[in-house]
Amino acid sequence: MSDHRNVSEHYTHGELLGAIHAGVTALGKTTDSVTVHDLAAVDEFHIGGRQASEDFLGQLNLTTADHVLDIGCGLGGASRFVASQYGSRVTGIDLTAEYIETGKIMCAWVALGDQIALHQGSALSMPFEDGTFDSGFMMHVGMNIEDKAGLCSEVYRVLQAGASFGTYDVMQVGDDELTYPVPWATTSETSAVASPEQYKHALQDAGFTIVAERNRRDFALAFFEQLRAKTAAASGPPPLGLHILMGASAVVKVQNMIENISAGRIAPVELIARKA
Ligand SMILES: C[S@@+](CC[C@H](N)C(=O)[O-])C[C@H]1O[C@@H](n2cnc3c(N)ncnc32)[C@H](O)[C@@H]1O
Repeated sequence: MSDHRNVSEHYTHGELLGAIHAGVTALGKTTDSVTVHDLAAVDEFHIGGRQASEDFLGQLNLTTADHVLDIGCGLGGASRFVASQYGSRVTGIDLTAEYIETGKIMCAWVALGDQIALHQGSALSMPFEDGTFDSGFMMHVGMNIEDKAGLCSEVYRVLQAGASFGTYDVMQVGDDELTYPVPWATTSETSAVASPEQYKHALQDAGFTIVAERNRRDFALAFFEQLRAKTAAASGPPPLGLHILMGASAVVKVQNMIENISAGRIAPVELIARKA
């Protein structure tokens, strides 16, 4: 079971802006010179980082004319990528207040504050009018949301007719129990991992048509192998990295995720759906 308070407590750091600012300084940059590319190391909180975002979001055919919704946007890393890469206007929403407050400041650092609006709130009841967005996406968020049916109908409501909706989530692909902690949950109590079939049913019941599906297991294992080699070659963690978000248990969370993926219990899966 997961609930909103447990989920936002899990992700709240307490001193996140200061920690990221220190990382920027250690990179030899300032808040004026840091780039969207530099920040990707800490603000793309999903398997495969910026590369995964490029591969996934490239399927949504985004343009400068689009208003795009980033559901569970975290620090807004993918929002900044979409705004800078495709020129789209982006709105992000996330449950964790500290991520939204920090993310807004990071948008200002890279001069994207006018193109991106970040809101604190739940994906299950979004403060947006029906049919507001031309496209939407969600990366590594559904693992914290038990009510997939409610989530999919709320996303359907805020998208325009014909809009695409992409999900890149960690999904259950085997029957065995997961080893915890993992990056999205300390125990099974706050994990709501579901199978691709459960996601597809929820999307179809909401009115979406599934247009593409891709299991990214091999990509994920290659990504973790590269990360392992880089970490072994370095004397310590990089100035900016996901260890800042995951805190003291970062190493064990990542190890458990690799083990869960290697053992065939979970895999990162992309689903692309379209509103009729
Ligand atoms: C692993 S992070 C991924 C963040 C971001 N999508 C990314 O890829 O960098 C999961 C995020 O989902 C958010 N989240 C979980 N449940 C949510 C909900 N019901 N509504 C909005 N955001 C939620 C969390 O606050 C957290 O920021």
